[in-house]
Amino acid sequence: MSEMASGDKMGGDKKQVRVWCDGCYDMVHFGHANSLRQAKAMGNYLMVGVHSDAEVTEHKGPPVFTEQERYKMVRAIKWVDEVVEAAPYVTTLETLDKYECDFCVHGDDITMTAEGVDTYHIVKAANRYKECLRTRGVSTTDLVGRMLLMTRSHFKTGKDEYSVDLPPEASLEQGATAHSPWTGVTQFLPTTQQLIQFSSGKVPKPGDRVVYVAGAFDLFHVGHLDFLEKAAAQGDFLIVGLHTDPIVNRYKGYNYPIMNLHERTLSVLACRYVDEVVIGAPYPVTPDLMDHFRVDVVCHGTTPISDDVDGSDPYAEPKRRSKFKQIESGNDMTTQKIVERIIEHRMEFMVRNMKKEKKEMAAYEGLLTRP
Ligand code: CTP
Ligand code: C5P
Repeated sequence: MSEMASGDKMGGDKKQVRVWCDGCYDMVHFGHANSLRQAKAMGNYLMVGVHSDAEVTEHKGPPVFTEQERYKMVRAIKWVDEVVEAAPYVTTLETLDKYECDFCVHGDDITMTAEGVDTYHIVKAANRYKECLRTRGVSTTDLVGRMLLMTRSHFKTGKDEYSVDLPPEASLEQGATAHSPWTGVTQFLPTTQQLIQFSSGKVPKPGDRVVYVAGAFDLFHVGHLDFLEKAAAQGDFLIVGLHTDPIVNRYKGYNYPIMNLHERTLSVLACRYVDEVVIGAPYPVTPDLMDHFRVDVVCHGTTPISDDVDGSDPYAEPKRRSKFKQIESGNDMTTQKIVERIIEHRMEFMVRNMKKEKKEMAAYEGLLTRP
């Protein structure tokens, strides 16, 4: 352990325990956020190393998001204290010492280099490695799969009025006889415990200016992030209203949302600018909602606003009260653009996913046959 890492850097009698995490953090989702939450709880200062585009491409395949986008997304997760850009793929003791970190934390899955070497073998051997629980049912691989195959099995209602029958060639199982236990497709099971762990538990203080925004926030991305940062700056307490899956489906169309309401809730709650989430907000911003939460200002970005089913403006009430403000996120990322990126690089991602699962299956079988 580095000399400084064991020293007292917090002042007083509380020892600072610095924790290191690293990863690709491509298409940041609540599984990543949950691992960082657990890691932070193992110490009190969390540093996160994010790999460069070149490193990710070499070891895993082309990332969906650029390194600048990935750095920004990780910085916005509320348990992260610092981000180290272009962190090396294999975690070394030099890296831990350089950033004065006591130990490294990773999920209970296996991460390997292009050559199939465990990226944590050095820190494991030096006893400076701890494990957190990987969140089942979400991974970049799975999200890419949902977009490529246009599956709707992530909709919590199962076969409802919006379900479509998939052709056999679009089956998730196609071409695969078995799935890796780590990144293979498993179902995400939302629990109240998870909500409690992600929630800030805060309420507005007397005199706080309350800001309300609503939307789909599907595949939570850098555009959402820039928007929420600006919205949060409009007041002291930011509430995000998330529309239900059928509502999002009505105004976004055929295959949306890609992530269901529970998943979208956790992704938004992990963002440092957000204080509270309304899980299943009404599409129009109603007088009741504004009074209940004592909303001072309602914001929307520059993306188009769809009419309600009866053709009315969902922001009619805040506009009538002169409490509506349009803000510029300055970022043109949209959920649709992410899906387009994936479709455009369809073959590369399919190959990448298959390679990753194959490597993991081999490692898993090795673990099973070990005496
Ligand atoms: N992680 C997790 N739960 C998930 C997905 C990732 O706990 N559902 C953790 C990993 O175990 C790791 C960290 O998030 O500690 C960063 O993961 P990353 O390097 O981005 O790669 P993957 O594990 O491959 O993530 P994904 O399968 O989403 O590509
Ligand atoms: O499209 P969605 O409902 O997810 O958008 C939620 C909010 O984020 C909306 O107010 C939208 O205008 C805003 N946004 C933005 N800039 C982006 C993407 C979304 O301001 N690039």
